[in-house]
Amino acid sequence: MLQNPPLILIVDDEPLSRDALSGRLARRNFAIESLASGQAALEAIQLRLPDLILMDVSMPGMSGIETLQKIRETWAQDYLPVILVSALTDSEDVIAGLEAGANDFVVKPVNLPVLVARIKVCLQARTAVLAREQAEQMLRFSEERLRRANDELDQRVRERTAELDRTNQSLTAEIVERKKATELLIAYQEKLRALAAQISLAEEQERRRIARGLHDHIGQNLVLTKMKLGALHELNNQAARTQVLDEVHPLLEQAIKQIRTLTFELGSRVLYDFGLSAALENLTEQMRDQHGIPASFKEDDLPKPIAEDIQVALFQAARELLHNVVKHAHPKSVKVSLVRVGDSIRLTVQDDGIGCRVDDPGSAISTTDGFGLFSIRERLEYLGANMEFKSELGAGTSIFLTAPLQR
Ligand SMILES: Nc1ncnc2c1ncn2[C@@H]1O[C@H](COP(=O)(O)OP(=O)(O)OP(=O)(O)O)[C@@H](O)[C@H]1O
Ligand SMILES: [Mg+2]
Repeated sequence: MLQNPPLILIVDDEPLSRDALSGRLARRNFAIESLASGQAALEAIQLRLPDLILMDVSMPGMSGIETLQKIRETWAQDYLPVILVSALTDSEDVIAGLEAGANDFVVKPVNLPVLVARIKVCLQARTAVLAREQAEQMLRFSEERLRRANDELDQRVRERTAELDRTNQSLTAEIVERKKATELLIAYQEKLRALAAQISLAEEQERRRIARGLHDHIGQNLVLTKMKLGALHELNNQAARTQVLDEVHPLLEQAIKQIRTLTFELGSRVLYDFGLSAALENLTEQMRDQHGIPASFKEDDLPKPIAEDIQVALFQAARELLHNVVKHAHPKSVKVSLVRVGDSIRLTVQDDGIGCRVDDPGSAISTTDGFGLFSIRERLEYLGANMEFKSELGAGTSIFLTAPLQR
């Protein structure tokens, strides 16, 4: 915007004409500053920019045209209008002035209404320039704010996207994890179901086998014994009676032996009568005798108080592990040991056979159809014990069963 009232700088070396112009224009509602030389004008406009300069062409030292040329090095015509005033009507002067960047030209003596009209035209042009400049500045300012807002938005979008990415990744990982857990659970349930089916089938077969044993051997012997004893009444002859008793005696002995064998097969009599160490020793002996595999048993002399259910579980586990050695390992020898480790007992079955070809045998995800290791693991874990399986192809297998001692 123009200054209010508009500031006009009058530059003229002749005091009379300078004062006359100043006075007349001041009455027309302009603010006036007047100076006597081009040099003074150049310095003054550095300090305060007027809205228009009215300048005499012929001045000593720096002429009006030279001063104008200097002014135009910094300020454009639209931005700082300059009207030259000349006593001469020499057209060369006019041309030189306009070429140097004068906005207009008036001649002395000045016709005031014409001058004021020209001043107004120049000031209108300057108003338009200033308004445009202000609009451009506001536009630049708005653009800058918009750019900053845009940058901020971009940054927030980037941060939010990164956060979403992270959340997404952890959700994906969780889904994978859950899927794995579910698959494991399903495999586990399937294996348990299959184990239950196998166990009831085995139980049924075992029952039949025992029933057959009772019927075919023990039952037959007892029936025979009863028949022979029943016949005693009819025999008066002492010698005949003695003969019957002699026949009955081996039958009863046989029945007793058969009952013993059955009892031993149903459980380990040695385990109940003499405890875990003796039962394990007995197992290794059977292994030697039945399969011809050198098997040894070793134990430390530390006291090992073990709950009965754990003793039974360890014994049955050892029996299954030794069966596995016979079935799968083809070893030169087998070692069984029972030692105390802190508050636990550790039973180890170690063979020097071919090693195990199956990944993680006995786990729910194991691909073998066997149940031996799986059911050992299940049963031990239920009792607070555990099984560790270590095997290397060609270098044998070691299995460690660790169970808590009784407090
Ligand atoms: N001492 C061993 N040496 C080499 N491989 C073994 C040994 N013990 C177990 N394995 C391997 O581990 C697998 C799983 O054993 P597991 O006792 O669970 O099943 P199985 O003996 O095959 O069948 P089941 O015990 O149901 O009759 C076996 O099939 C065998 O491949
Ligand atoms: Mg087995």
